[in-house]
Amino acid sequence: MSQNYDIAVIAGDGVGPEVMREGLRVLHAAAERFGFGLNLTEYPYGTEHWLATEEIFPESATREIVEQDAILLGAIGDPRAPVGLIERGVIGHLRWDLDLFVNLRPIKLYHERFCPLKDKTPADIDMVVVRENTEDAYVQQPVFEDKGTADEVASQAMRYTRAGTERIIRYAFEIAMTRPRKELLLIDKANAVRAQDLYTRVFAEVAEEYPEVKTDHAYIDAASMWMIKNPERFDVAVTTNLFGDILTDVGAMIQGGMGLAASANVHPGKLGLFEPIHGSFPKATGQNTANPLATISAVAMMFEYLGEKDAAVAVDGAIASLLQSGTVTSLKAGAYGTNELGDMVLAQLNK
Ligand code: IPM
Ligand code: MG
Repeated sequence: MSQNYDIAVIAGDGVGPEVMREGLRVLHAAAERFGFGLNLTEYPYGTEHWLATEEIFPESATREIVEQDAILLGAIGDPRAPVGLIERGVIGHLRWDLDLFVNLRPIKLYHERFCPLKDKTPADIDMVVVRENTEDAYVQQPVFEDKGTADEVASQAMRYTRAGTERIIRYAFEIAMTRPRKELLLIDKANAVRAQDLYTRVFAEVAEEYPEVKTDHAYIDAASMWMIKNPERFDVAVTTNLFGDILTDVGAMIQGGMGLAASANVHPGKLGLFEPIHGSFPKATGQNTANPLATISAVAMMFEYLGEKDAAVAVDGAIASLLQSGTVTSLKAGAYGTNELGDMVLAQLNK
């Protein structure tokens, strides 16, 4: 019996709708080819919707969405809204309130032509960053004392629970076990942020249960340096929410740019949220210049999570063969039309 998937689609702000359009073309083509059904529900949440209705993300939509199999998201963020309001209200809401504690961010170089680092090849850049997704300063309320005065104090705590720390570290060990190198690097800043001693201790405890995994540790500043100097040192890395956010933008650059990097926000047993890691690029809205490959890659990650392995391999393979073929010579925004890149992936997929 063929499967049927209910997918919530949130195209969002800026270039979100454009990259989503290409993502959905590939989604439909793969479903047809691999014989599964799709029932898509589009949700309008984002800045435009908020400006028109003052609504950010209604409870009723959340209740509807949690019954579905996956969420596909384009991009959120628009300078017409107060900083962070819609990002926290849409992406933050879905990650935190659905308890999607894993943010999985693969970083893979498909061809050396796209790497800004000297002498690095695809053999050097093939890693996964496992970013904690439900704790840290991200989920704390900012506090402004004596706001606007000379005595103002602003704070937003970096807060970690043992349960939250343990589940992300355990998940990262499981990912490491699936990889040929079986290496796991803990990245933190426990020498300065002593609260992260919790990561140090829990990592050591969980490591005892995975004797086959080769473990290592780096502070976030050194890890950022290695990412540029020696990316081949990374196989799987686990880190906190804020550091994972920052480091994966560096990762995106070494794999060819923000136009390529995708992510999966998951919690085993629950529905996942799949999205490009890039923002909404408001200045480029409607210009058909944004690169849709990250969104298409998020579609592949969604297939993988849904158990449609063949479709996942086919979509990922279509991106890889396109980038290896020499047809695409630049991944800079505007080098190709958004729709043109979508066409090229579809052509590879149909080969
Ligand atoms: C990301 C983004 C988000 C984050 C923003 C939009 C809130 O940068 O997914 O990496 O910081 O997590
Ligand atoms: Mg980010």
